[in-house]
Amino acid sequence: MFDKLKKAADFIKEKAGIIDIVVVGGTGVELSLEAEEVAKINYADIPFLPTPTVKSHKGFLQIFKKGNKTVCVANGRFHYYEGYSMDEVVFLVRALKLAGADLFFLTNAAGGLNPLFKKGDLMVVVDHINFMGINPLRGRNLEELGERFPDMSEPYSKKHIEIIKKCALKNKIELKEGVYVTVSGPSMETPAETRMLRMIGADAVGMSTVPEVIALNHAGCNVVAVSIITNENRPDCMEKAPLDEVIKAASSASLRLSRLIDCFVEAI
Ligand code: HPA
Repeated sequence: MFDKLKKAADFIKEKAGIIDIVVVGGTGVELSLEAEEVAKINYADIPFLPTPTVKSHKGFLQIFKKGNKTVCVANGRFHYYEGYSMDEVVFLVRALKLAGADLFFLTNAAGGLNPLFKKGDLMVVVDHINFMGINPLRGRNLEELGERFPDMSEPYSKKHIEIIKKCALKNKIELKEGVYVTVSGPSMETPAETRMLRMIGADAVGMSTVPEVIALNHAGCNVVAVSIITNENRPDCMEKAPLDEVIKAASSASLRLSRLIDCFVEAI
């Protein structure tokens, strides 16, 4: 596995150069950064990388120059519910780490559990609950990447969360904060599951991000994540949240998220 990761990393490094920050786009997230695109790498060309199967997810890396920083935007991620193994789900972020990146800004679409959250809100993730029932680090430890029992006492970099909060204030973007719980999906939550997820301490629920965050913490990276609340899940009056509405809500919050990321990149 490590050899395959290394080959993918070498390929990315050759095309992208030194990456200062990786931004991973979630479902329906359409980022438009104020930066100059200098290269594009199709996932299909990266050795050993699986190809995404979900229509709403594209499959390419964009390399941007913003001032003296190099930003790599990953358009399309690999979800467990698609049938990928956990090794495949985290392959791209691990390869990017091995290519030299050590700061990751993950984004996702999530259902709101906190009753104060509204559709379209942005939530900076301050902690998570892994409710997928599986961990990407299970199995033989990749010693080249990190230790057997990695610490998870600060899964999301507090220092970088503060920068995001300052950026939100500066740009007058309302920003909620909260705990993200991940489920395996692809079925959405029942009312009883929604009630339970709120009771165990989550503010938003989604089907991604946490495997990457675990793999990146294992590899010693700094991670931040922002969720777009695409639907409001209320256990006593559950409403349907079809994919097209999730995508629509994520896409209409994308401009605010892009400005937040622009500011973040300038501030790091
Ligand atoms: N549940 C799980 N995943 C999601 C949701 C949700 O309500 N909304 C967007 N992704």
